[in-house]
This record gives sequence, C-alpha cells and structure tokens, in this order.
Amino acid sequence: MSLHAQPYVHHHLQQNMYQKGVKHLCDNGVTQVPNKYILPELERPQSLVVDGCIELPVIDFAQLQGAERPQVLKALSKACQEFGFFQLINHGINNETIGKMLDVSKRFFELPFEERQRYMSSNLYAPVRYGTSFNQNNDGVFCWRDFLKLSCHPMQDFSSLWPSSPLDLRDAVGEYSTKTRNLYESVMEGILESLGVANDDIANISEEGNQLMVINYYPACPQPQLTLGLPPHSDYGLLTLLLQDQIEGLQIQHNGKWATVKPIPNSFVVNIGDQFEIFSNGRYKSVVHRVAVNSMSSRLSVASLHSLNVSRNVRPSSKLIDELNPRCYRDTSFADFLNYLSSSDFKCKRFLESRKLHQITI
Ligand code: OGA
Ligand code: NI
Repeated sequence: MSLHAQPYVHHHLQQNMYQKGVKHLCDNGVTQVPNKYILPELERPQSLVVDGCIELPVIDFAQLQGAERPQVLKALSKACQEFGFFQLINHGINNETIGKMLDVSKRFFELPFEERQRYMSSNLYAPVRYGTSFNQNNDGVFCWRDFLKLSCHPMQDFSSLWPSSPLDLRDAVGEYSTKTRNLYESVMEGILESLGVANDDIANISEEGNQLMVINYYPACPQPQLTLGLPPHSDYGLLTLLLQDQIEGLQIQHNGKWATVKPIPNSFVVNIGDQFEIFSNGRYKSVVHRVAVNSMSSRLSVASLHSLNVSRNVRPSSKLIDELNPRCYRDTSFADFLNYLSSSDFKCKRFLESRKLHQITI
C-alpha cells in the first residue's frame, strides 16, 4: 500500500478530528500517520543531510557569575554568533522545581480531552491557549505536536487564568516561571555585555517584557519519517530557555545540515530569537530549528519565551550601527509578526527575512 493510500484513516476521520490534536488521535487508536500530517517528500526529516548529534557550546552559569566572567562572556559571544544556541549548565534552578514542572506538564496532557479542550482558543492573543500543530488556523500539513501556552508575566494578571487541573499546576508553573525569568534576566545581562551594549535601553525594556511558557507534547508517532513535531522555524522573541526531557528530538540548522541536540539532564537549551537578531543588527543569530518525533516514546519540552512587550517596536541598537555596519533590519512590531503568522502557510519563509533591508539607501 502506498503511503498516501490509507483508506481507514481517510474515510473515518472527520476533518475537525485533527483540530483536537495528536494526543486525541493516538488515544483513538491511530496506527498510521493520517494524510493530514504527511509532509511532501522534500520536507520530511530525512530529506536534507542530517548530521547526527551536535555538541552545542556549553555555558556554565556559575562561572558567568564568578571570577571567570570575562572568558565566559567570550564563549557566550562566540556561541551566539556561530550557533545561535548554547546549553546552560549550573544555572541554579534546583532539580525539584524542574522535575515538578515536567511532571505536572505530563499530567496535564494525560487529562481527559474534554478537560484540555476547555483551554482551546483560536485567538493568538489569548493568555491561555491549548492547541495543536504549529498554527492550526493555517497549516496545510499538520505537525505532530499539541501544546499549552501560558502567559506568565506579570504573574498576578495571569495565574488565576491558568488551568486549575491538575491541582498543582498553578503552583508548579508559578515557581518555575519566576525562577526561569530571573535566570533569563541574568543571562540577558551577560549577552548584552558580551555584545558591548550593557547599558542599552533594551535592558530596561526587557524587564517589562513578556514571558510565555509553551509546553510542547509530542506523542510517540507510528511513522516518524513522514512528519515533524515542529516545522523549521525560528523563535520570535529575544531569548528562549528550553527544558527538554531526556528524549532527543530538537534539531538545529548548522552549516547547512540538521543536527540533533543531545539533551544534558537538568540543563537549558538557550537560543537567540528574531527580536534579538534585529536588535543586534544581525551579529547574534536567530537560528532555524525543528523537532523530529519518534516511534518509541512521547516527548515533552517546556519553552520559556522572553520577548518585548507587545506595544514595543524592536530596532537595531544605534551602538551597533556605523558606516561599516549599516542598519540591516526594519523597525518591527508584534503586530507585524502576527500579521505574518496569520497570512502565511508555514514553509520556513522566515519572518525575519521579511524584516531585512536589502537595499542600503544613504
Ligand atoms: C519551540 C521549540 C523545541 C522542542 O517551542 O519553539 O522550538 O524541542 N521547541 O520542543
Ligand atoms: Ni522554537
């Protein structure tokens, strides 16, 4: 039988079944990947050169805060320029906080569908949003991923809107998001210092900025070679702190190849987002990444996305622009990003590309 002929799936699943997510699909006994999730051949996980595992630069947060700071800042700068990614170890958030966050996340996705469904919303501004795929309003081909997105800052505005079940979710998310936010602020301080713009406005602006917690759930997939958990994308904000369980899946684009990031227990994968690439006038890179799924087990990750307040525009820092380094990006607002998201079927035409200035006018 060809991969595209799946009579059972095709005739018996209604279109709106896919809107309910992949966990729901799996709970209903799907044993093959439905057509809706099958990528064109050239976009499948094996179609581009895959480079095996990659050792991301490792940044020791304890050293960054200590006497070795100057050397660590150099390593940080190199990582942000060459990879756009690094692993953060010795970050000071204890294993218990991390363990609770992963555990309660897992239990959220194990709730009956009706319970999770209460948080579904097609409004991209909704402070609590349960959903599936990348952008289920627009995606032609769906991704093998369900998610829960929670706005986290300022916490008193949002915590009462977070799911009330599992009972310990609000506590776990509250503790975890406060700690990751503090960590973000210290890491961002280091990143700005490594760029030589420590006192730039953006440091103040990022204090009032957004924190969005994205809990990603990727069920085990019967035919992982046909689909992806997340399509190639870059993250929109300033910086992302990603916590993954011990299952591989995250792949980053490096030297034209896809490379799998090997999880380091209790560490964070940190990456530069589009807003920061714009602010740095292209010195630090917002790198394209994606998620592969596997047939052996489900996978869970928690991404803490830190970005400027929606009312703020981002533009290249004037300290990084001179005659030799002309401005490379347009001023960019959150509305620009949302317009882009809701107008395009996602095919890795990166949002950032649309913000680049290709002609220099003097
Ligand atoms: C994301 C993301 C990677 C992962 O949420 O933007 O890239 O491993 N997640 O889940
Ligand atoms: Ni991402």
